[in-house]
Amino acid sequence: MNSEVETIRTIAAVAVEAGKPLDIMEVNLELPKAGEVLIEIKATGICHTDEFTRSGANDAGVFPVILGHEGAGIVLQVGEGVTTLKPGDHVIPLYAPECRECYACTSGKTNMCTAIRRNQGKGLLPDGTTRFSMLDGTPIYHYMGCSTFARHTVVAEISLAKVRKDAPFDKICYVGCGVTTGIGAVINTAAVEVGSTTAVFGLGGIGLNVIQGLRMAGADIIIGVDLNNDKKDIADQFGMTHFINPTELDGQSVSEAIIELTKTEIDDWGGVDYSFESTGNVAVMNEALKAAHRGWGVSIVIGVPPSGQKLAAEPIQLLTGRVWKGTSFGGVKGRTDLPKIVDWYMDGKIEIDSMITHIMPLEDINKAFDLMHAGESIRSVVTFE
Ligand SMILES: NC(=O)c1ccc[n+]([C@@H]2O[C@H](COP(=O)([O-])OP(=O)(O)OC[C@H]3O[C@@H](n4cnc5c(N)ncnc54)[C@H](O)[C@@H]3O)[C@@H](O)[C@H]2O)c1
Ligand SMILES: [Zn+2]
Ligand SMILES: [Zn+2]
Repeated sequence: MNSEVETIRTIAAVAVEAGKPLDIMEVNLELPKAGEVLIEIKATGICHTDEFTRSGANDAGVFPVILGHEGAGIVLQVGEGVTTLKPGDHVIPLYAPECRECYACTSGKTNMCTAIRRNQGKGLLPDGTTRFSMLDGTPIYHYMGCSTFARHTVVAEISLAKVRKDAPFDKICYVGCGVTTGIGAVINTAAVEVGSTTAVFGLGGIGLNVIQGLRMAGADIIIGVDLNNDKKDIADQFGMTHFINPTELDGQSVSEAIIELTKTEIDDWGGVDYSFESTGNVAVMNEALKAAHRGWGVSIVIGVPPSGQKLAAEPIQLLTGRVWKGTSFGGVKGRTDLPKIVDWYMDGKIEIDSMITHIMPLEDINKAFDLMHAGESIRSVVTFE
């Protein structure tokens, strides 16, 4: 153990190499430095973006790393200069920080805070170093500034949203990514109006939250698209009005089917006002754009494809008035907006419980990835009780 730097030992699921299952091991964690906070993680969700890096599909992935970016926990200790948090506060780590000072934060136009972006992308904390290491001293990288697949983690103060203490950790961890991304894509990125026609491609942990956001926004038509018929029932519960399985279309493309379904007496063109892509497949992104209405339809890219893949649309799609946009964390400013989203959950305005299909201890975390691949889970959550 390093005698100059105070460290604790904690337990974590470490991605030692791309494409391998996570290894559960004891690790060293240095206590927080200036501007940092030590968190005891109580629960963490497993998102497809974790799998994107674990699998090796993410070229920017660095190993060994502690993945996880959908957590909730309690502040145990704060580093020098931390003023907005104190031990005992309940928090959700943010992979999209909010410094409230940088050019992006003060622009009022985006949630893409630039304060710590470069080092976060390299798996480091803002000062360019890591706090985690293996017992033999090998450094372990951080992930998206969060690393929630560990009982304890160190996170920058600007990457923590303080939330109410009566909200259950094993539900609100999901607000750290899936819930917020889906609902935010509807409310912030698309700004869907009451009465809109819409389509959602991919009814997983993100897509179902897009549907829940569309119901809140008052969309009239919500067409869900998924290869897996098992997603239909739960999507119905969240407000889906029509379902399309691309493999059951008899030669018609999904966009053609959506255009056909949305034609009316006064609109023989068809297409939806808003389409959302949450599969991470570039061909699906193209279909989602084509399904948007000529003249004004907006298509939102949410899914993250393997590194290097390119979008390929005919420019005529845009020349004739469709708009193609992307979103990160649903355009939500985490420190400002997450407490409100947790309130929505506690007040019954949004639903989370039925989307958490599996709860397991850290030792079983690799099962969460198996369930994701088998299409059997919406969200698996690891708890540290
Ligand atoms: N932009 C962001 O801020 C952000 C945040 C979180 C996740 N993501 C990304 O969103 C995507 C979805 O994440 P998730 O956690 O919901 O994943 P998930 O695995 O839970 O859901 C994906 C769904 O898409 C369906 N699907 C796959 N291929 C399809 C196809 N060709 N046509 C129709 N449906 C298809 C699957 O059956 C599944 O139901 C991932 O790419 C993830 O990396 C982006
Ligand atoms: Zn995520
Ligand atoms: Zn900022």
